Amino acid sequence: MALKITVIGTGYLGATHAAAMAELGFEVIGLDVVPEKIETLRRGEVPMYEPGLDELLRKHVAGIEGATGRLRFTMDWAEAADFGDVHFVCVNTPQKHGEYACDMSYVDAAMESLAKHLTKPALVVGKSTVPVGSAERIAARLAELAPAGGEVELAWNPEFLREGFAVNDTLHPDRIVVGVRSERAEKILREVYATPVAEGSPFIVTDFPTAELVKTSANSFLATKISFINAMAEVCEAAGGDVVKLAEALGHDDRIGKKFLRAGIGFGGGCLPKDIRAFMARAGELGADQALTFLREVDSINMRRRGHMVELAREAVGGGSFLGKRVAVLGAAFKPDSDDVRDSPALNVAGQIHLQGGQVTVYDPKGMANARRLFPTLGYADTAEDAVRGADVVLHLTEWQEFRDLDPEALGAVVGRRVLLDGRNALDPERWRAAGWTYRAMGRPAA
Ligand code: UDX
Repeated sequence: MALKITVIGTGYLGATHAAAMAELGFEVIGLDVVPEKIETLRRGEVPMYEPGLDELLRKHVAGIEGATGRLRFTMDWAEAADFGDVHFVCVNTPQKHGEYACDMSYVDAAMESLAKHLTKPALVVGKSTVPVGSAERIAARLAELAPAGGEVELAWNPEFLREGFAVNDTLHPDRIVVGVRSERAEKILREVYATPVAEGSPFIVTDFPTAELVKTSANSFLATKISFINAMAEVCEAAGGDVVKLAEALGHDDRIGKKFLRAGIGFGGGCLPKDIRAFMARAGELGADQALTFLREVDSINMRRRGHMVELAREAVGGGSFLGKRVAVLGAAFKPDSDDVRDSPALNVAGQIHLQGGQVTVYDPKGMANARRLFPTLGYADTAEDAVRGADVVLHLTEWQEFRDLDPEALGAVVGRRVLLDGRNALDPERWRAAGWTYRAMGRPAA
């Protein structure tokens, strides 16, 4: 009989994973403790912006006309525990308030709530990004709490999906990594992932700590790559070089590769910043802090980018103070194709300028509602054109396609001064300069 799957936590990761499992043909129950989330998902709607996810939900959520009905949602732990053979735990592990370490309270609470109801054999699969060593600890706790005792096993299966590409990354992963302690657990996970594996996704079987580490080290490597190119941007600015050409030339070396070498205002979001910090904190606990001191530098290069953009904006409005100056900010999400504003470099820059007296107006294609909630005192406009109206300087801080398609002539007609700072090196300098704009980007010569 086909495996039945539950997915605990229906945020970014969980909602996508649940829908993808239904797409692969499994019967799925998604569980969350937030009633609004469950109600939204039951209507086949997505509580965040993620291309393709709402279509996938509407295709499978029970009760929606024409849907397969393979996907249901509940708030009832007993129902979920009774239903599933495999329970994926997909809850959040945010950064602890005021500390580098990650907050494991949601994972621990989810594991405990589930465990109490596990009366039959089951495989619990952790997907959340956790400090190395967590799986070992959780496995012991599950065995202690679950009425089925040793019949309940744990596996760790990190998730590498990117926001904006979540559906595709889940259905066609670059690799599937499973940390297991038994052949039985491996067999079950091979069954769950049979389709992507048949389509070519590598399936890597390892132990708990390695599986946990694959995720944190992958994100550390990506963060390091971005900070490396941003460090080169600093040097380029000092030496009069062009970091975009430099990255292009570096990328032709296959060993380096072209990806994640886009210099600009740096990385943000709910993953890279908190993951490198949590990794450093955990290494410290393990007595291996020296191994990761370079991540401190990665973090500080990254944070410096935001301050540097503020300084470039100050220069652009004539140096001195922002008081009485209008600053248009194009972009609020931490990256394009997402409405996520967690640790968004764009909003951080906007907030700093606002605090220094600038009159800031922000526009983002999808991130406005979240931005308004997080930074209610900033000014907002409903279109890019309205945001730049009368502005002394325009900052391009999240590289949406909509901004690449903007007409420099049309914007030039409404702006106060035609001065554009490209914080993502994503716009075409020639196009903007041809329309009479002063175009300046990070790590590139001024003109
Ligand atoms: C990341 C990892 O890519 C993913 O594998 C993991 O599962 C979760 O964390 P995500 O946070 O969705 O995914 O975004 P990602 O596409 O990695 O971008 C992160 C940040 O880096 C964004 O703010 C982006 O603008 C920035 N970035 C990315 C750069 O500044 N330069 C680049 O070259 C690439």
